Amino acid sequence: MFKSAVYSEPFLNELHSKPIEKPTPHKSIPSTLIRKKPLDLPNLDETQIIRHFHHLSQMNFGVDTGIYPLGSCTMKYNPRINEVISNWDKFSCIHPYQDESTVQGTLQMMYELEQMLKEITGMYAFSLQPAAGAHGEFLGMILTKQYHTSKNESDRINVIVPDTAHGTNPASASMAGYNVIELPSTKDGAVDVDVLEKTINDKTACFMLTNPNTLGIFESDIDEIARIVHDAGSLLYYDGANMNAIMGKARPGDMGFDIVHLNLHKTFATPHGGGGPGSGPVGVGKKLEQFLPIPRVIKKKENYHLSNDFKESIGKIKQFYGNVSVLLKAYCYITLMGGNGLKEASEVAVLNANYMKEKILQKGSYELPFRSLRKHEFVLSCESLLKKKGIRAMDIAKHLLDNGVHPPTVYFPLIVKEALMIEPTETESKYDLDCYIETLCKIADEDTEKIKDSPYNTPVRRVNEVDATKKPVLTWNQI
Ligand SMILES: Cc1ncc(COP(=O)(O)O)c(C=O)c1O
Repeated sequence: MFKSAVYSEPFLNELHSKPIEKPTPHKSIPSTLIRKKPLDLPNLDETQIIRHFHHLSQMNFGVDTGIYPLGSCTMKYNPRINEVISNWDKFSCIHPYQDESTVQGTLQMMYELEQMLKEITGMYAFSLQPAAGAHGEFLGMILTKQYHTSKNESDRINVIVPDTAHGTNPASASMAGYNVIELPSTKDGAVDVDVLEKTINDKTACFMLTNPNTLGIFESDIDEIARIVHDAGSLLYYDGANMNAIMGKARPGDMGFDIVHLNLHKTFATPHGGGGPGSGPVGVGKKLEQFLPIPRVIKKKENYHLSNDFKESIGKIKQFYGNVSVLLKAYCYITLMGGNGLKEASEVAVLNANYMKEKILQKGSYELPFRSLRKHEFVLSCESLLKKKGIRAMDIAKHLLDNGVHPPTVYFPLIVKEALMIEPTETESKYDLDCYIETLCKIADEDTEKIKDSPYNTPVRRVNEVDATKKPVLTWNQI
């Protein structure tokens, strides 16, 4: 008999002693809707199925396979201990409709995680509900709207976004009904403070920024930027997806940001981009606290409660309380790392990025546009390779796959031509970084024709990128 956190043993005994009844169609289902013949499912034995799925898993590339320096995605190793704990049935078997007196441990974890995120970011309060970074941005835009409406300033209809921004920033602002105004960067790859000052006005609702930006460059004029934004009556939004660069070093709250989202599924121990659940908690300054989504976890004496008692709240942004298993992984990770551990993680992430950048530049095959000192990531350009040999960033990316490593992000940010965006993270060894540098530079010297047709060694050859996402082939195939 297996152990269950939900059902009692007498109940299970009774259940197992009953003969198994053949399912009969429910009386309330109209006869026209009842299936006339059995479902046409593939008739496969267990061995075939196991081999099929095992084979599919081997066709994939993940952080567990090798280095995965996908810029802006923070594909770092996620310690297994966090997975193990989030699978404990005391957490995984609870139901959102259980009485809150029976889920005190989970509520305590959520309450304490909120305190930890406040400490890390310098914000006043958090909502743990959003399910992704982009979802957090969308909540940030709704909060922005609510804030200006409460001040009778709903004619603030514009959101300013730098040209280095992640694509989700303008998309989220636009989904929330704002006009997006793009801000060009300086020749150093940073916010142009003079242009910002000329662009911002009494129609501006918010300026969205990530720091360090997607070039890996820290916006050192941030104090001045915050002053300009606030003097114009606008809010300052922090895309915290790059938090891995500055944990324990600098806090968006101290830089003057009003709203912040974090990507727990990048920085705090849940894999990013694996198709599983994510989490994009949103933190706010004091002046926006009353608008946060409900329910919120509160503490009264020694007990934790889910409170809906926030009259000015925007309501709900996600069913129940967000993706609790991801919150739990972040809680365990932050607890295990401690303040100094998080700081060291960021220091090593930045060291690894700058080490790789310098080594690659010494070899001379790629250029580095904009200012040199970077945080956790850097963006190379293949423009001269294209001019000299006709090799594009995409060719380099595909040929890296032939060499058994994952390519960097390509063609982003848009202001770098033929971009290769590299984020090694803190969890790669010097040996793996050196091998990657060697491979990347060797490819640049290879014969153009050979590279153009790569990859050769992968289960799927070069695909039409648009068809691969718009018309994926998801049916059973004997591979
Ligand atoms: C800088 C930046 N902002 C926002 C996002 C959006 O996060 P998500 O993919 O969770 O929606 C990402 C994603 O990696 C990002 O790199």
